[in-house]
Formats: sequence, structure tokens, C-alpha cells
Amino acid sequence: MKIEIIDSYKKISRRVASIVARQIIYKNRSILGFATGSSPIGTYSTLIKMYEYGIIDFSEITTFNLDEYYGISEDHFQSYHYFMNTNLFDHVNVNRENVNIPNGIGDPKTICEEYNKKIDSCGGIDLQILGIGRNGHIGFNEPGVEFDSTTHLVELKKETIEANSRFFDSIEDVPKKAITMGIKTILNCQKIILIATGIEKAEAVFKTVRGKISTDTPSSILQLHPDITLFLDEEAASKL
Ligand code: GLP
Repeated sequence: MKIEIIDSYKKISRRVASIVARQIIYKNRSILGFATGSSPIGTYSTLIKMYEYGIIDFSEITTFNLDEYYGISEDHFQSYHYFMNTNLFDHVNVNRENVNIPNGIGDPKTICEEYNKKIDSCGGIDLQILGIGRNGHIGFNEPGVEFDSTTHLVELKKETIEANSRFFDSIEDVPKKAITMGIKTILNCQKIILIATGIEKAEAVFKTVRGKISTDTPSSILQLHPDITLFLDEEAASKL
């Protein structure tokens, strides 16, 4: 695992955006894996600026998002479809036919099988961006997840529902289930970037880097990935 400790969120965002931009320039048909949550928002706004300045072109890339809440529609203001549209896709020239986010409505088995097939048919993901939950979840792979899982339906843990309730009008409105890419799918990505900032992520970061590899902390499995870099601020890195 490589670790970069950077002193501000803005600088982390610029650094990560520059890696994504390099990937797009290096291979204009890149398969990019995107995450939601507050951690990558700065990266996305920097990528939008790079697009506006004519530095990068999204027209040939394909994207796969990690996850989506199950039971809410694409146009719900807290769906991850909505998040990606408002924070990135509406502002760049990505071809919508090449944007993939799990459906939040429909038969979960079919949704998961189709998502797995689509990722496989593209030959896997070149570069995946990850955030991390306070309990070490990646995507929505909660503690107890099978390490050999592919896209699947999950029951969200109480602590995840509580953490994510800040985005909803009330905790009752937070979906209790989600569809997420599995751990095996994430491990299969060529290159992974994980962004974590703030003191509330320090414990999860510690367990990711120095903890025993265990499904109790799903992110600990990332220790086995050959090309992963963690971009941390000082608070998130404070327990290392
Ligand atoms: C959600 C997402 C994760 C994300 C996590 C942390 O649960 N499913 O992919 O990493 O939140 O979010 P944040 O970056 O807002 O702390």
C-alpha cells in the first residue's frame, strides 16, 4: 500500500484528479470506477475544470459506479445516480451510454448479474476511486461481507444508516438496503485510489493499513492489492 499524507482536502482533490486525468489521456477508452460520498466531490469538481480547460476529454471513457441505494429511483435527490449527474456527469462530455450505475429499482438478482456481466465485458476497471465508511466499508461492502463477492444486495449496518442520514431529511428516509460491487470486483481493478479525510476516518484508516485482514473491516483486504494508494489528510492519518 502506498500512502500520501497531504495537508488539505483541496490538494488531495487536485492530486487525485491529476491521476484520473493522466489515466484518461494515457488511454482515452479507460474504464473508470467512481465512488460517491463527500470524499471524491473535490476530485470531481477539479476534473470538471480540467474538462472545461480542454485538458481532458470524457467522450470515450466508460464508467462504473460502486453502488446505489436499493429502493429509491434514479431521480431521487439522494440516489447515487443523481449524485453522479450533479457532481460530474452533467458537466462533462461523457457518453451517457457508457455510464453504468447499479439500478436501485428492480429485481436485485437480475441487476447484479447484469452489472457483473457488463464489468466483465469491458475487461475490468482500470482505475477505481474509493472512499471509506467509518466501519471500514468500501462501496457498500459492510463488515461480514464475503471477500469473494461480486455485485450483490446488502443490508446496510445501523452505523452506516446513521452516518448517511446527514444527507436525508430524517433517518427513517435512509434506504436500508443497497446494491454494491463486491470485494472481488474491487480487488480486480488494476489501480485503486482511496480518499479519506477527517478524524472520524482515523480508526478505519488505521485498521485498513495496519489491522488484521478480516471481514470485520472490509477495507483491510486492500492490503493485498498490488497497486493502491491512500490519499489522507493529517487527521485521517493520525492513528498510523
Ligand atoms: C457511503 C458510500 C461509500 C463511501 C462512504 C463514505 O456509504 N457508499 O462508497 O465511501 O459513504 O462517505 P464519505 O466520503 O461521505 O465519508
